[in-house]
Amino acid sequence: MTAVGIDAVEIWTGKLALDLAETFAPRKGDDPEKYTKGLGLYESSFPDAYEDIVTMGANAAYRLMERKDLDPEDVGRIDVATESAFDNSKPVSTYIAGCLEEVYDDDFHHANKGERKFACIAGTQSLDDACNWIRAGRNRGRGALVIASDTALYARGDAGEATQGAGAVAMWVTEDPSLVELSTEQGYGSADETDFLKPNQQFPSVDGKRSIQVYLARMREALVDFESVAGKVGPEDYAYAPFHTPYPGMVRKAALLAYRHTIRGTEVEDALADEIGRQPRRADFADEEAFDAAIRDYMDDLKEQPAYHEWYDTHIEPTLAVSERVGNWYTGSVHLARMAALYHAAEADRDLAGEKLLVGSYGSGAQAEIHAETVQDGWREELDALSIFDRIAERYDLSFEEYEQVHDRHNHEKQSELEPFTTPEDEFVFDGWGPMNERK
Ligand code: HMG
Repeated sequence: MTAVGIDAVEIWTGKLALDLAETFAPRKGDDPEKYTKGLGLYESSFPDAYEDIVTMGANAAYRLMERKDLDPEDVGRIDVATESAFDNSKPVSTYIAGCLEEVYDDDFHHANKGERKFACIAGTQSLDDACNWIRAGRNRGRGALVIASDTALYARGDAGEATQGAGAVAMWVTEDPSLVELSTEQGYGSADETDFLKPNQQFPSVDGKRSIQVYLARMREALVDFESVAGKVGPEDYAYAPFHTPYPGMVRKAALLAYRHTIRGTEVEDALADEIGRQPRRADFADEEAFDAAIRDYMDDLKEQPAYHEWYDTHIEPTLAVSERVGNWYTGSVHLARMAALYHAAEADRDLAGEKLLVGSYGSGAQAEIHAETVQDGWREELDALSIFDRIAERYDLSFEEYEQVHDRHNHEKQSELEPFTTPEDEFVFDGWGPMNERK
């Protein structure tokens, strides 16, 4: 079967940055380490006054099309994943295509456009849709533009406020991709949940503590389901495991769960048995409560083991390097984690071609998906063409007062006027409602 997957990626970060330790924590009366050590976050990205999900998505897509020398006629599909949409009818992909058509001579008349919604997992769902469209032979030699674009804002004072972020990830999905091939095997964990939702509201209603438990439960189910089609996953089968990263601290919890699950029945569990015993088996306990308590004790011990730290440092920590500086990008988050992992390998001059990634996507509401990716021969050139860390470093640093003004500007109910902090340079800008965007 022909390989199908991601050929290239471009990333657009909101141009403003909020330093959580220096700027946010003191004004909230919090210890900065709550953010840097507890949540694992240093900065968040925010859109400037002239940016929104359309401009960020269009700018990422334009950069991608230019770099890959693509014309609109090469694009058979434009899918946008977002949970920050402002239009209940017209998909964001049409707004983005409208921007791009201002620049190209051709248009996207024969591209199928849509918008995917399932909280943060929609980015991966769009990717899956694009791959399936190609595998079904419906693409007529063309590729798919998959764009994950979000402005992840919480109400001021909400516990989630520290995890905000904004940016877009554009992915070019093709046959014989240069970056990663996606497995046809996937595992799901899905259930109707109400810990994070936005019924006709911009800012989410969140039960933060419960959302952590729901994330972990769905992720575990997805891993079990994935193994039912792909076979047992061992802790060393994958070079990296990029997970959906609302904040790095969440991934620390997911990683421990994944490690416990993957070492079960392996030599690693045997080797640890002298120190911490074997994993509790359900059959040995009278009820669920006693079993859960035993599992918690085992995890507490496992967390302290050098073998676990070593595994975490090589397979997980590198995936967090972008996220810790930009916050939660919702639909784009897991796709940033993948790129951070590849950056890490490139910096270490590691030859990653042929190695595998275990990708864990998640969306509140709630659903997790696990799939595998195989790194392709052209991965290094694609990585070398990207400059995400430079762009992160170029962001304007907001004071706390400026942050509040930016938050108000992007609050759909307020939409207050705001002078931009940065100057647009050869990019799409938001020009008020009506004719939406203009390339400056
Ligand atoms: P909180 O209640 O303010 O924080 O909010 P906390 O008191 O629980 O502290 C967080 C961590 O920092 C804790 O560590 C503390 O111990 C530690 P943990 O128990 O997690 O290991 N801590 C410190 N560490 C060092 N020094 C200190 C210190 N103080 C505290 N001085 C919460 C945390 C996650 C609840 C909040 O940020 C929130 O509500 N976030 C939004 C919801 C969220 O991100 N949930 C994650 C799972 S759901 C998901 O991923 C989906 C999502 O992306 C949406 C979608 O799918 O569309 C959100």
